[in-house]
Amino acid sequence: GRRVTVRDVAAAKARHERWPMVTAYDAMTARVFDEAGIPVMLVGDSAAMVVFGYDSTLPVTVEDLISLTAAVVRGSSRAMVVADLPFGSYQASPQQALESATRFMKEAGAHAVKLEGGSRVLPQIEALVSAGIPVMGHLGLTPQSVNVFGGYRVQGRGQSGDELMADAKALEHAGAFSVVLECVPTDLADRVTAALSIPTIGIGAGPGTDAQVLVWQDLMGLTEHPAKFVKKYADLAGDMNRAVRAFADDVVNGAFPTAEHSYS
Ligand code: KIV
Ligand code: NA
Repeated sequence: GRRVTVRDVAAAKARHERWPMVTAYDAMTARVFDEAGIPVMLVGDSAAMVVFGYDSTLPVTVEDLISLTAAVVRGSSRAMVVADLPFGSYQASPQQALESATRFMKEAGAHAVKLEGGSRVLPQIEALVSAGIPVMGHLGLTPQSVNVFGGYRVQGRGQSGDELMADAKALEHAGAFSVVLECVPTDLADRVTAALSIPTIGIGAGPGTDAQVLVWQDLMGLTEHPAKFVKKYADLAGDMNRAVRAFADDVVNGAFPTAEHSYS
């Protein structure tokens, strides 16, 4: 089977079909999600926090994310793999954005890139799209701007909702193929979804967006203090804790290994 493409994503909106996106950062996880039929995987700069243990997304580098993106591409065969452009790799100029995005496409085999922001990144989006690189936008709570926001809080309430709507229309006009809406009121996400012909992908944006995305460690129950918008579909932290304790007990008690796991 072939990979999901931006055309499939566009067709889903035309048919009013909702779809799921999850993050992935390694080959084995990507394989599981790919086999489960997840159409789009995001190698998010959330890797800074969930993979590398930083307390924000800012420190992760292009090199870090290229390694992870390459692993996700190798581990999957159906999903479209979108790579986040990290903080500092695109803001300076369209030229810088093009150089960074080109590395993700050539060195990692990414199929699209994502970057954060509205009107201030339109020249970047136009440069990437005209170079043949599909771009996913990201509005609302854009974690690379956490120091401007003064924390991780809901965006687009009141007056600033009009600004977000204008940004969303501008991203579509600049050629973005989709846009993530993070931590925005449901009614604003609904209005943006209705106003755009490209799909909206919600995270903490209510049930009305065209798609939904979650960080996989959040939905699997690995994250210690998940946000309000997270639903836990598994308890991997609990499962892994029990499993590794069982292994530890078996080692201490001499119950593992037995002949079954040994060579004669
Ligand atoms: O980095 C990330 O995981 C993201 C998603 C939450 C949209 O940007
Ligand atoms: Na991100």
